[in-house]
Amino acid sequence: MKRVVILISGGGSNMVRLAESMVGDHPARPVLVGANDPTAGGLEKAASMGIETFSVDHRPFGKDRAGFEAQLALHLDKAEPDIIALAGFMRILTPDFVRRYAGRMLNIHPSLLPKYPGLHTHARAIAAGDAEAGATVHEVTADLDAGPILGQARVPILPDDDADRLAARVLTQEHMLYPAVLRRFAADNRSPLYM
Ligand code: GRF
Repeated sequence: MKRVVILISGGGSNMVRLAESMVGDHPARPVLVGANDPTAGGLEKAASMGIETFSVDHRPFGKDRAGFEAQLALHLDKAEPDIIALAGFMRILTPDFVRRYAGRMLNIHPSLLPKYPGLHTHARAIAAGDAEAGATVHEVTADLDAGPILGQARVPILPDDDADRLAARVLTQEHMLYPAVLRRFAADNRSPLYM
């Protein structure tokens, strides 16, 4: 049974779907949920699902990314994760940290990578006049939002869309895509899934 740690920064809607999916004959189980913000709403949701939680507030570390990540790694390594799923985790990780977990770390990004790495992805897709948007699950490598793609889900951009409406449409797809990709990844299947 693969041990999965999920890292969040906010509400954790993707974390909830991932945790809910790991039941029955699923080859993985959620063992820990962590956040870089002790007030992240997802921590309570995880606790109410019976999942152990932790938080490491990144703010006291200021620019000391390595210091923050050392604390994060302490919690992670105690859980002996086979897989680390970043789900709405909004901290950029240093190459050293990423290398430590290379091959075990996934992320979901709300764009059709390689388009729109970084922030404000939906506003950028709308501004560019794109017909489609979506989400990508990828392996985390040292280059931000650029690792091997494990899955993508597409949605249409509608004429009167604003970023919030589009984000909501994409999030619905994320909640189907991420659990499907995690299940394949936990079964050592890294072939990309296009929904
Ligand atoms: C989602 O748009 C996800 O793509 C991005 O963070 C946002 C919030 O995710 N990574 P969640 O509701 O906290 O799972």
